[in-house]
Amino acid sequence: MGVVLSLEEGKRGNPTIGRLLDLTAADMARVNELILSKAGSDVDMIPQIAEHLISSGGKRLRPMVTLAAAQMFGYSGEGHVKLATSVEFMHTATLLHDDVVDESGMRRGRQTARMIWGNQASVLVGDFLLGQAFRMMVDVGSLDALDVLSTAASVIAEGEVMQLAAAQNLETTEDEYLAVIRAKTAALFSAAAEVGPIIAGASRSDRAALRSYGTNLGLAFQLVDDALDYGGSSKDLGKNVGDDFREGKVTLPVILSYRRGTAEERDFWKHAIEGRENGDAELEKALDLMARRSAIGDTIGRARHFGEIARDALAPLKPTPQKSALLEVIDFCISRVS
Ligand code: IPE
Ligand code: IPE
Ligand code: MG
Ligand code: MG
Repeated sequence: MGVVLSLEEGKRGNPTIGRLLDLTAADMARVNELILSKAGSDVDMIPQIAEHLISSGGKRLRPMVTLAAAQMFGYSGEGHVKLATSVEFMHTATLLHDDVVDESGMRRGRQTARMIWGNQASVLVGDFLLGQAFRMMVDVGSLDALDVLSTAASVIAEGEVMQLAAAQNLETTEDEYLAVIRAKTAALFSAAAEVGPIIAGASRSDRAALRSYGTNLGLAFQLVDDALDYGGSSKDLGKNVGDDFREGKVTLPVILSYRRGTAEERDFWKHAIEGRENGDAELEKALDLMARRSAIGDTIGRARHFGEIARDALAPLKPTPQKSALLEVIDFCISRVS
């Protein structure tokens, strides 16, 4: 499958999250230990399934954001490690659930848990991880952090249900799409960032700054993810390219192509998305129409826009290594290939 040019352009220079990795390395070692121990259970199938997904890696972006955001405001206790672990467990749980809902076959370069153990076990282990996440939050004892993370948990579920309701509906507007990704993805990035200043006892305006950073970073992240589903490579991504197309998911590249297309092009999209005529030939044609309508490039453009909002949210904060690291994350998310 052809690689879309605008994404190739984005890859140039390959921004990395080196600073974030360095600053959080010691804390992340403890997060990773805690992840393994809290994924444990006497019920054998639970650690088997959890470890299948956990040991295959993942970028661990969200917990690193939590740790850096706590460090940024001088936090020196133990709670940030537990909160970061909770955040990653919430993420892992949503992935287990999401792959069932999306009927996905590949995740992090491996078969999805649902392909090996089935949908029922995947959903239930997701629930277990969510439960473990909340136990750790209670352990930390910050009611404000619990409030922010538990709100995010319900908003994520709302986002996934909203998406289900919009599935295969080509009349979905860009606004409706943005509302979905704000809920299903940005809410967790936002909470991950905000619990840092919360646990560090930072001011309301610092909390608001990190919350806004997280929200807009999350929007940018999902926009890029949705572009990569058409323009990336399966090998880089560790998940199958074209999943969204085959599933009839109405993401921004489709919304733009459909709205900007001729009557004939809109007819194609109706057959492909609503009529589920979505084989390899149709995917090729979809990519062709997306290129013609600049849909991938403009999706990345929207991501850049939200990235700028995230950047400006942090602008008033004093310069620290953590601030630089969080700013680097924005560029990384926008130009990521995996
Ligand atoms: C995948 O998130 C789910 C989306 C919000 C698109 P990541 O790309 O952060 O997943 P991992 O943890 O690195 O595998
Ligand atoms: C992300 O949505 C899942 C959640 C945020 C719950 P996607 O369905 O686009 O994520 P991938 O592409 O499967 O990773
Ligand atoms: Mg999915
Ligand atoms: Mg996706």
